[in-house]
Amino acid sequence: MYVCVCRSVTDSHIQREVEAGARSLRDLHQRLGVASQCGRCGRCAKAVLEQALDAPAGIDAALAPA
Ligand code: FES
Repeated sequence: MYVCVCRSVTDSHIQREVEAGARSLRDLHQRLGVASQCGRCGRCAKAVLEQALDAPAGIDAALAPA
């Protein structure tokens, strides 16, 4: 789903950036341009970010040896 229409950023883009180390809305702003134009996406982007940060890193991480 589109989170930021102005910059064509989707929830998948945000997920990828979290996997690459993004930890804040500021990180998303710098990496993807989220909330850099009209700003209406800020709240939704933060919610998607928090959900991605809370989500498990994926099956590969779950299966990796400790
Ligand atoms: S919708 Fe993200 S800056 Fe406008």
